[in-house]
Amino acid sequence: MGQPRVFDRVAEVYDATRGGEQRGVQVAEDIVGWLVPGLTLEVAVGTGVVAAALQASGYDVVGVDLSGPMLAHAARRLGPGRVARADARALPLASSTVDNVVFVHALHVIGDVAGAVAEAARVLRPGGRLVARHGPWRREPTDIQDALARLTALKDAQAPDTPAAVDAAAAAAGLSLVARTTSRPARFESSPAAEADGIERRLWSFLWDLDDATWRDVVEPAVARLRALPDPDRPRPDVSHCQVSIFTR
Ligand SMILES: C[S@@+](CC[C@H](N)C(=O)[O-])C[C@H]1O[C@@H](n2cnc3c(N)ncnc32)[C@H](O)[C@@H]1O
Repeated sequence: MGQPRVFDRVAEVYDATRGGEQRGVQVAEDIVGWLVPGLTLEVAVGTGVVAAALQASGYDVVGVDLSGPMLAHAARRLGPGRVARADARALPLASSTVDNVVFVHALHVIGDVAGAVAEAARVLRPGGRLVARHGPWRREPTDIQDALARLTALKDAQAPDTPAAVDAAAAAAGLSLVARTTSRPARFESSPAAEADGIERRLWSFLWDLDDATWRDVVEPAVARLRALPDPDRPRPDVSHCQVSIFTR
């Protein structure tokens, strides 16, 4: 299993490039119906956009993350004493003290799905909920998606957060599946030029560890295809969804 991907390098552009607080509200709306009342821990809370929206819905929310620069934003959003710098595989919480543990687009960057889910199960109280949004991600077809097909296949091939992996981790940790659903569609806009720029800036964590040969053979041709599309500055709809898995202890 690879190292966790810590987001220090993108903390200052994270919200602007991933939908910001509007995405946080949408994600919170999608998962809030699965939570039980009480203390809710978001593991890998990032800049806190989802956690803040859960807090605004009335939940008592705390968060942990490995990245200090990401956490600085979460601390500002959630208020004093609400966040801590910690690894998902060693949570600074006593066993059986948390009502909900939430992973939002986190297991694929944590990498060690089994370790993170086991640690979540440890801190959950009996009857508590684990809610995870995870892969595979699916984006509705556009010319951008056609241009990115090989890159998307590469991303899928290295993703550790498949439903099978999440299920195996949960079963090993003594959790039972309550439900698995497809998330409500996330709706953004993106142009071929913006996609190409984002890839070249390595905004997306799956690009961070690619070797030079893969960059040359897969990434550069994808960027060239994007830049060759007609009207490269014209935004296209970017509609995507992921899996939502709900477990109980
Ligand atoms: C894609 S961001 C998601 C942040 C937030 N959940 C959201 O939806 O906006 C993934 C986060 O996981 C954090 N992370 C990666 N590995 C971690 C680990 N082992 N323990 C805690 N956080 C980790 C990164 O630093 C980053 O902030």
